[in-house]
Amino acid sequence: ARVAIVISGEGSNMAALLYASRLPGSATEIVLVASNNPDAPGLALAESEGVPTWSHSHKGLTREAFDEALHDALAEAKPDAVALAGYMRLLTPAFVSHWQGRLLNIHPSLLPNYRGLDTHRRVLDAGDNHGGCTVHLVTDEVDAGEILGQMPVAIRPGDTVDTLAARVRHAEHQLYPATLAAYVSRHHDAGWIEQQVDALAA
Ligand code: GRF
Repeated sequence: ARVAIVISGEGSNMAALLYASRLPGSATEIVLVASNNPDAPGLALAESEGVPTWSHSHKGLTREAFDEALHDALAEAKPDAVALAGYMRLLTPAFVSHWQGRLLNIHPSLLPNYRGLDTHRRVLDAGDNHGGCTVHLVTDEVDAGEILGQMPVAIRPGDTVDTLAARVRHAEHQLYPATLAAYVSRHHDAGWIEQQVDALAA
């Protein structure tokens, strides 16, 4: 399956998705890395790995205008799925409805708990014994789409936002490629079965 990745910053999840796509037997091929931040370190990494990139600053554009530009860049790459990976902006309803069902995100908490920002601070303040991460489908309601995969991460004595965030990041790098591969394979298999049924009926 063709996958486009949208980032705003570091791009460590993008790197995990990219290198996983290069394992033997991988179900995914990364066809574009796009960003609203031309200086995102993840873009430079993608370029050095020979992956096509697109970037455009959102500054000075309305949300609608930026999302249209992003949409056009994605549409040209013809992805089967779009993976948001540290994309730090809200998307317009028009964008979401176009890509719905093919648009995934990773969030650093065990949803439905701790939607939104600053998840690690809130988990620690609440005295929880686990944080974690979730891959979910994107819908108009932020961090509320269907959950595709989750991984808990134990909280350790003395954890700070930074130490917990670093371990959750390790978990994300395992969870996202595996969950994305399972999701696109499910869809491909579904399409394949339909084709066989059509072929039998013909
Ligand atoms: C990750 O923790 C992700 O869950 C959140 O933003 C962070 C992105 O990190 N949405 P990176 O850019 O993939 O390194």
